Amino acid sequence: MKNLKDLFEHQLKDLYSAETQLVSALPNMVTHAKSAKLKKAFEEHLKETQHHQERLKDICEDMGIKPTGEVCNAMKGLITEAEKFLEEEVENDSVRDAGIIADAQRIEHYEISGYGTLVRYAKELGYTNIAEKLDKTLQEEYSADEKLNSLATNQINKEAE
Ligand SMILES: [Fe+2]
Ligand SMILES: [Fe+2]
Repeated sequence: MKNLKDLFEHQLKDLYSAETQLVSALPNMVTHAKSAKLKKAFEEHLKETQHHQERLKDICEDMGIKPTGEVCNAMKGLITEAEKFLEEEVENDSVRDAGIIADAQRIEHYEISGYGTLVRYAKELGYTNIAEKLDKTLQEEYSADEKLNSLATNQINKEAE
């Protein structure tokens, strides 16, 4: 890597790996979530996540690079941790849901950080259209996080208490 463009491409591939891993992992969270609202939130975000993956693929195509070739180990770790929790013995449904939300929010925050950087790089490199596409994903990650926040705060954490 010699310049910001190289770094940008490297980070695009990293996030493509992260989104691809999430597309495979989210159905398991849908299955294990007990609250209907939480299930629905994960189902909706799974659809968005598929769009995020597609969007990154399109951006890489526009730039003439392959989206594959990197493994995002951070996402791998976050998913491993989330799946480990799904195997835990948790007697109370709301406690389980609260724990799933905690893991899911870690994942969203990781994505928010990644897309925040990518939007900034794209703007600095003068890729206005790409910056807009990445920002669309970023806003969806913020909304997903916010939805989880309000589910936890308004309902699930209280029930778990
Ligand atoms: Fe995403
Ligand atoms: Fe996400």
